[in-house]
Amino acid sequence: MKVCIVGASGKLGRYMVQHALDRGHEVVGVCRERSVKKLDEFKQRITIVPGATNDRDVIKKAVEGCDGVLTVLVPWGVQQYSSGTAQGVLDYARPDARLVFSCGWHITRDGQDVYSRKFLWTVLIVGWIARLLRLVELDDQVEACRRIFASDTRWTVVRGSDLEEGESQGLPVWSQHVGDPILASNITRRVDFALFMVAALENDDLVHEAPAIVSCKSPSAIAHAS
Ligand SMILES: NC(=O)c1ccc[n+]([C@@H]2O[C@H](COP(=O)([O-])OP(=O)(O)OC[C@H]3O[C@@H](n4cnc5c(N)ncnc54)[C@H](OP(=O)(O)O)[C@@H]3O)[C@@H](O)[C@H]2O)c1
Repeated sequence: MKVCIVGASGKLGRYMVQHALDRGHEVVGVCRERSVKKLDEFKQRITIVPGATNDRDVIKKAVEGCDGVLTVLVPWGVQQYSSGTAQGVLDYARPDARLVFSCGWHITRDGQDVYSRKFLWTVLIVGWIARLLRLVELDDQVEACRRIFASDTRWTVVRGSDLEEGESQGLPVWSQHVGDPILASNITRRVDFALFMVAALENDDLVHEAPAIVSCKSPSAIAHAS
């Protein structure tokens, strides 16, 4: 497959580049001009399109001819970074391309997710402070996902739990709703979040799903398996 990775220079993005190359995919990476050097380890093996990910011309050029697009949705700044990025991908990717987007558990598709009070307070307080400082616009990530859910493209929105670094533990398990017992441990290795994103490109069962993921080695996943 020819795969575009939007947000390739970030932590999640670089893991996705590695997994995609490991699977033999041809990779086109998009990242901000100032971050191109963060992709030095891959520079002989991937094509890099520098530029802001919410720049429609940048996205149009990067996704041309791609069979799949992996997009790191981040709500940075107050300039519709998430929704602008998502809209560019929805508009310019090939109609039959597999589109896989990342976000956190706070995104809900059908309102059936059940959140703990601690989780809701954290999202509320962090979101409020970040908006006050004009650092992050969580509402815009919500808007980005609303547009994805409404689109008739072949999308998947992968909702990550809390993340940690460390060696891969294998492909995470998933469930449709936060609050499902299998997800209770709320922890995934970042390298495996990336693995799930890349594997989703070739898993049509995930088309039009918003899987909430958790490590397959976490206590809640093990308890569920047994
Ligand atoms: N962190 C968590 O605990 C957590 C939990 C659940 C889900 N998630 C989801 O995981 C994904 C990535 O999370 P991550 O923590 O692993 O982050 P990450 O991989 O470091 O990705 C951050 C991305 O944001 C870009 N970025 C950083 N500052 C920016 C700015 N001021 N303006 C524009 N772009 C900027 C980075 O690009 P540069 O390389 O150019 O800086 C990079 O592409 C997101 O979709 C997030 O919602 C995260």
